Amino acid sequence: MVVGPLPHQDLRGALFLTRATQPVNLLAIETTCDETAAAVIDQNRNVLASAVASQEQIHDRFQGVVPELAARAHLERIVPIVRQVLDQSGIDPRRDLAAVAVATEPGLPGSLLVGLAAAKALCVAWKKPLVAINHVQAHIYACQLVQTPTIFPCVGFVVSGGHTNLYRCEAADRWRYLGGTIDDAVGEAFDKVAVMLGLPYPGGPHLSRLAQTGDGGAYDLPRPMLADRSTLNLSFSGLKTAVRYQLVGTGKQDFSQLQLPEQVRADMAASFQRAAIECLVGKARLALEQTGLPRLCVGGGVAANVLLRAELKSMTAQQGSELLIAPKDLCTDNAVMGAIAWEKIGRQDFSPLDIDIQPGLLRGH
Ligand code: KG4
Ligand code: ZN
Repeated sequence: MVVGPLPHQDLRGALFLTRATQPVNLLAIETTCDETAAAVIDQNRNVLASAVASQEQIHDRFQGVVPELAARAHLERIVPIVRQVLDQSGIDPRRDLAAVAVATEPGLPGSLLVGLAAAKALCVAWKKPLVAINHVQAHIYACQLVQTPTIFPCVGFVVSGGHTNLYRCEAADRWRYLGGTIDDAVGEAFDKVAVMLGLPYPGGPHLSRLAQTGDGGAYDLPRPMLADRSTLNLSFSGLKTAVRYQLVGTGKQDFSQLQLPEQVRADMAASFQRAAIECLVGKARLALEQTGLPRLCVGGGVAANVLLRAELKSMTAQQGSELLIAPKDLCTDNAVMGAIAWEKIGRQDFSPLDIDIQPGLLRGH
């Protein structure tokens, strides 16, 4: 059924723009994957309140995110989380909010729908404009929360459970996709190797802890696409498979039954981590060289990795570029990075209330 134009136009900021003093707070909502998060952020990027409800316990026994369970958990948690940040911040949403922002792309369809439906309902109830944000861009924008005045222009690098992408970011509204993984995201590879090593979900942080007692040179693992300077694409599925073959050969294996010696587990964790990080750092360096941009801004869950942070630091120091990495608590999914919505509010770039979700990654902008 085709629905005619919805009466959203009158909600596009008209109300708050006519006020003598404009509201200076933003409510941001994040439900792209398996964290339900909300935050209240003022126009100077001060965080008045932030809350994240993790679904780790729900997905742990499946060793990965189950999309329908994720969507249902968002449904249960979204209202309490929004209520919590409103209470914590002490704001009156009708009076004090400039807009409601929500991540509408990319992500799991069911998860995105819950956040967007909630945001639309709040916009209608409070008569506020809606700001649709891109989750991948928001991950990179988390660097803005430790930087003044602006992170732009920069090479943006998102390294997460769902994405591993490089962008040329000229300005807040000018992003160009430069390259990215052609198969698994780096966080996904961390998580799958962690399963092979008998670690809980999500495995990235556990694997990096285990790697501390291992030898990163113990196993000879591939660095897929690293030597190919003609592309900024990356690949992690071959690396993940190489780990599997070195641990158990090519046969079928129930990893929960695998009894590996502790040192073997630690050495493999360290060897995998080193290989994955060399690929990330190598391509980030190539992106800086090719674009000539002055700084690298890195966000996403894997950016919390201590070795990656150290290796990026020495690469950019050598290369003469500035490095900004999202604060550790803002690397994994959160709503504070929804502060990117202030860039859109500044341009009056609001979304109609009939906007849909965009689950796939758009590479064109
Ligand atoms: O950004 P994020 O919360 O979700 C997505 O947007 O995908 O990233 C989650 C990913 C998971 O794969 C997790 O294992 C990984 O980030 N991760 C790490 C570390 N902390 C989180 N990977 C490696 N080292 C870490 N310290
Ligand atoms: Zn994310």
